Amino acid sequence: MRFTLLRYDSIDSTNTEAINQAKRGAEEGLCIVAREQIAGRGRHGRTWVSEKDAGLYFSLVLRPKIEIRLLPLITLMTAVAVHQAIESAFKIECDIKWVNDIHVDGKKICGILAETVETEKGLAVIVGIGINLKSSNFPPELAETATSIEKETGADPNVETFLPVLTSFFEKYCDLLYEDAAKIRAEWSQRSSYAFGKVVRIMLENETIYGTTRGIEENGALRLELETGELRIIHTGEVEQVRQVKSKK
Ligand code: BTN
Repeated sequence: MRFTLLRYDSIDSTNTEAINQAKRGAEEGLCIVAREQIAGRGRHGRTWVSEKDAGLYFSLVLRPKIEIRLLPLITLMTAVAVHQAIESAFKIECDIKWVNDIHVDGKKICGILAETVETEKGLAVIVGIGINLKSSNFPPELAETATSIEKETGADPNVETFLPVLTSFFEKYCDLLYEDAAKIRAEWSQRSSYAFGKVVRIMLENETIYGTTRGIEENGALRLELETGELRIIHTGEVEQVRQVKSKK
């Protein structure tokens, strides 16, 4: 993959810019990186707080060479790449929370937002990655549930040396996905404590369910064994929130 990096001091959202570039014909590998986002977006229409230099705000254009039904695996592949990049660059032990959050000791350090867009060159997927570099931009309600590279390492992270690490792992796992999707499922399962035997509470749009995780489906959907013993398949799009539960009341 050939990476082209477009840098912005300030932008509305790197994902929005990547979508616009993809519509204008950008090739796979175009990356948008900004020091600040004015309208950073998270999943479920939430805001992604994006103060200047407090996070890595990064989006990448993909022209996926996989079957449409496997597109959700792009999020899993991205989580694997980010997980490995953070561990290798900063020596922080991370976990992947199904489906796309990177956690350190149960606190979120990175979120991923994948979006699809139809373009004249075909479908493009925009992969947006937000990594907390410093804890200074956390609003009080996030302080309990989020962490940052600076907090975990005690040092000011160097984005310029991290970016090539991130893109090289991204390339490695993207190639692996295109070559053999089963290998991405295996890589993801090895890195996620949520893959097997985790007791979770999942909030869907209209119901909350409890169960134990039993691996992932071919397209990355989660297999959940309900308390009744019934196996339920949970698709990434329908989930509002996943929480580990120690004991159910
Ligand atoms: C989440 O809700 O966990 C996903 C957060 C994704 C945030 C990143 S920051 C770079 C890119 N641009 C955006 O507007 N969002 C993503």
